[in-house]
Amino acid sequence: MIAQATGSLRFTIDLPSRHEPRRYKARPLTETDAGAVDDLMRHAPGVNRHTPPTESPGAATARIGVFDDMRVLRAFVDLRAGAPTADCCFVELMVVDPRYRRAGLGSHLFNALADEMKAAGARRIALEVDEDNDGAARFWSRLGFAAVPGASARTHMERRL
Ligand SMILES: CC(C)(COP(=O)(O)OP(=O)(O)OC[C@H]1O[C@@H](n2cnc3c(N)ncnc32)[C@H](O)[C@@H]1OP(=O)(O)O)[C@@H](O)C(=O)NCCC(=O)NCCS
Repeated sequence: MIAQATGSLRFTIDLPSRHEPRRYKARPLTETDAGAVDDLMRHAPGVNRHTPPTESPGAATARIGVFDDMRVLRAFVDLRAGAPTADCCFVELMVVDPRYRRAGLGSHLFNALADEMKAAGARRIALEVDEDNDGAARFWSRLGFAAVPGASARTHMERRL
């Protein structure tokens, strides 16, 4: 059920701003969006994807993109629904265009996804962060994630929904 829900996610993100509110639209990405993802990744070198250590038989991948009002991709997130366990969703990668960071886009995207995942039956969200990625660790901590003891070169973090 979580896997089905992630494949059809569509929502709007309204970011408050001192100047004018900005509206972004989120939807699942397809192969036709591959060029836009490559463009965004060119602005974010050295970012690593992490895959879940285990997964349930029904696990499925979803890539959700966030577009600005000019329909330019400004962020995306890769999810593995049903991993590491059936009631969990694993964030393999989240990237915000560097020119759009520290404006709340990543947080709003995650919170909208968390609401959708919870409604679809997920009870936990898990992810891994490279040990030298202090900015990401702080970002996820601010969103309620806690490090799970025992991980090695990467920090395993989880949050209940
Ligand atoms: C991590 C990332 C997704 C955050 O996206 P974002 O849109 O900039 O995040 P937000 O603006 O919602 O940040 C919310 C809070 O998280 C913390 N935070 C975010 N980025 C941070 C950074 N680089 N350093 C320290 N704290 C950071 C801050 O507390 C921030 O609040 P503040 O700006 O009011 O201080 C983005 O920096 C990114 O794409 N990084 C490269 C890819 C990556 O490392 N992804 C995570 C691994 S999966």
